[in-house]
Amino acid sequence: MTLATDWWQRGVIYHVYPRSFQDSDSDGIGDLAGIRSRLDYLTWLGIDALWISPVYPSPMADFGYDVSNYCDIDPLFGTLAEFDALVESARARDIKLILDLVPNHTSDRHPWFVESRKHRHGPKRDWYIWRDPSTGGGPPNNWLSNFGGSAWEYDPVSGQYYYHAFLKEQPDLNWRNREVRNAIYDVMRFWLERGVDGFRVDVIWHLIKDAEFRDNPINRAYQQGRPEIERLLQIHSADQPEVHGVIAEMRRLIERYPGRVLIGEIYLPLNRLVAYYGEGLSGAHLPFNFQLIHAGWNARTLASMINEYETALPKGGWPNWVLGNHDQHRVATRLGADQARVAAVLLLTLRGTPTLYYGDEIGMADVPIPPGSARDPWELREPGLGVGRDPQRTPMQWDESLNAGFTTGKPWLPLSDDYAKCNVAKLASTDGSILRLYRDLIDLRRRHRALSIGGFRLITTGGEILAYERFDESERFQVFLNLTREPQRIDEGADPSGASGARALVLSTHGRVERDFKAQPLTLEENEGAIFKISN
Ligand code: GLC
Ligand code: MG
Repeated sequence: MTLATDWWQRGVIYHVYPRSFQDSDSDGIGDLAGIRSRLDYLTWLGIDALWISPVYPSPMADFGYDVSNYCDIDPLFGTLAEFDALVESARARDIKLILDLVPNHTSDRHPWFVESRKHRHGPKRDWYIWRDPSTGGGPPNNWLSNFGGSAWEYDPVSGQYYYHAFLKEQPDLNWRNREVRNAIYDVMRFWLERGVDGFRVDVIWHLIKDAEFRDNPINRAYQQGRPEIERLLQIHSADQPEVHGVIAEMRRLIERYPGRVLIGEIYLPLNRLVAYYGEGLSGAHLPFNFQLIHAGWNARTLASMINEYETALPKGGWPNWVLGNHDQHRVATRLGADQARVAAVLLLTLRGTPTLYYGDEIGMADVPIPPGSARDPWELREPGLGVGRDPQRTPMQWDESLNAGFTTGKPWLPLSDDYAKCNVAKLASTDGSILRLYRDLIDLRRRHRALSIGGFRLITTGGEILAYERFDESERFQVFLNLTREPQRIDEGADPSGASGARALVLSTHGRVERDFKAQPLTLEENEGAIFKISN
């Protein structure tokens, strides 16, 4: 068994979308002072680390993922002094703080790009990706923007195109340029010196592009009505072998600061994903694993997915699981309210670091955005496909007061109309609520190392129950998850090695109702997740 002792292995990461967590100055937009005022809640919930989406100065074309100054705080969110106060308050509560680093692209208003754009032969020209038009005129190749349309923007002044994997307001930096690397490494040092505990690196697999800028191949499986980016296979525009050299440099830098973590945002198939641990673990500590977000929700699919992931991990590579984020529809919407509870048990009992998205712990669902009110640039560019990310970015629901206690101003996105029922204050005091379930799970995980850093073994049940064991030298737990809407019997015969020992229920999504868990065969209620302690 791996001897895991780092906080980022044991702990639970909580992801805050800062615009939507807590507003402190009535402008309808969440801010750093707001986050700081809610740290007591995060302590109560029991999380170990906070990752906040970007808070740097930004024209907000992509809500902060278009950075115009890497070493400051946008006035919408506060000041550097407020940031320092947040670091200090978090540290006082033993909560780690992880920043979102956006090194793949800047804002088009970043002084580096303003300079780069000015002169074809200027000193910063090569900091971005400039190419001549193709021989017949038009963009240099067929690469597409992730938000639709060509990824190339023509600049009439110099007669060249620049590349942007996202909005044209987000030009890609040229990571083959040494000065660019050093400039971003300076940024990392700036925040590490200020006391941050690590970075979640935005679209890390995008940093290096094909040196020859070859066309991406056509995706023959493309389906009408899907986002335009899917028309091509992103073979040459991302995930190039040289990216691992860059990440190894980031990792070396981070290693000079003890106890910090490097997390990579990576949307790639499993075999490509695990490469981001790097040769000899020289890459990201945690290449984000988004498989739970996309997997078919049934026992067979999840079991083989977990198994393949565990098998694919490099030696010593630490697993991690993500249930939701600001780019994905909320788990309560994807799976429904009942299975969202089962998913909570899964997330917090799998082997590996769990990352949970603010609001999921109170069962928030996607909030419908009235026509004409969309804010997400992707939705605005490709309307009607369901790509909009506003529904999963709506304000946190704290209590039943006006605007759920998020703001006394006008919230930047609408609140869910169920907030009088679905809010922190109410659910915290309701036995059996999803919030209490999350809190109990986090607490249980903290109290038993078998559940955080222990070993993992799937149990074959042969049916609709996903089952596995977590164990260390002194304790053994079994987790049974009924992923269906009908009661299910557990077929113990399917896996004789799983059955030995006496079972005691320690937690169920259905509470501590009186039921005979000693009866054979063991039965789970519909949508029930249960954790048993096994004594031999
Ligand atoms: C990442 C972010 C997403 C953003 C994109 C461009 O995928 O999570 O929100 O739009 O990068 O920066
Ligand atoms: Mg505000």
